[in-house]
Amino acid sequence: GTKLIIDTDPGVDDAFAIALAATSAEVELLGVTTVFGNVPLARTTANARRLLQLCGRSDVPVAAGAARPLVYQATRRLGGVHGSDGLSGRADTLPEATRPLEDSDAVSLLVSLLDAADEPVAIAPIGPLTNIAALLAAHPGIRSKISRIVLMGGGVARGNTTAVAEFNIWADPEAARRVITEDEVPCVMVPLDLTHQCAVDDVWLGKLGGSGPLGRTLETLTSDYRAHYRRVLGYDGMVLHDAVAVAEAIRPGLLHTETYPVTVDTSAGPARGMTLVDRRAVPLEAAGREVEVAVDTDVDELRNFVLSRLAGGR
Ligand code: BDR
Ligand code: CA
Repeated sequence: GTKLIIDTDPGVDDAFAIALAATSAEVELLGVTTVFGNVPLARTTANARRLLQLCGRSDVPVAAGAARPLVYQATRRLGGVHGSDGLSGRADTLPEATRPLEDSDAVSLLVSLLDAADEPVAIAPIGPLTNIAALLAAHPGIRSKISRIVLMGGGVARGNTTAVAEFNIWADPEAARRVITEDEVPCVMVPLDLTHQCAVDDVWLGKLGGSGPLGRTLETLTSDYRAHYRRVLGYDGMVLHDAVAVAEAIRPGLLHTETYPVTVDTSAGPARGMTLVDRRAVPLEAAGREVEVAVDTDVDELRNFVLSRLAGGR
């Protein structure tokens, strides 16, 4: 099966994404690395470890990465959307991790897992791209060991943290630009426009809550996140953002992609953190690097795929 590493800042939708990978037999989850984002690094790391324990995956190593962005620390308070502890105030109800945190940091774990793998590995970054930028900058030779990067981030026609910037890109635009625009590693970008198409409603969440032990627990982590999305969507439901990207990492081709030049705005102006996706038929000058942008999917199939995996988990 596909070998996969997840880089994450859990986060309610990160929790769903981790559980999806942890319960999918067709992928080999080699490791999880953590980054600041929805909540500070100590909390995202503790959450990732407890979530893997919940999924019965104490075989998966976890290493902590960046506690702050590469260059510029935004003064604006991060998070809030996912509750005080990143999991709607319920993080401490999850089982304590029995596996110790790795001594090495995220970049070191990424390097050793990639080096040890006998085939190229997919990486799914579902938080700010700080760890991945640091990896590519410090270890240029490692690129050949990465099959592709499938990241949740950016927007084609919209933002969420600002009018034009999506959270993962906004949280570290320089890192995002390094990975998306300034590198050569194959990259699939799963933007807000698509993740919002795949939003789930109270019926879906009710089925999850009435399912097996894993699904029941995951549903209890959604309350604060769901309260936020009730206002965003205008109905009781939530957006699975990170789980949509991980679904593509697990089942390549599940999302329909189109190739466009993409660049990331790293200016200090109002467009900071924006992904500029150049959809002109005939660009007069190259604007950014060509990446695969996920634009479409069979929405019901995607929702059913995620539900069936999480509902079946013990
Ligand atoms: C992204 O931001 C975070 O809040 C979510 O976990 C997801 O990775 C969506 O913009
Ligand atoms: Ca995330």
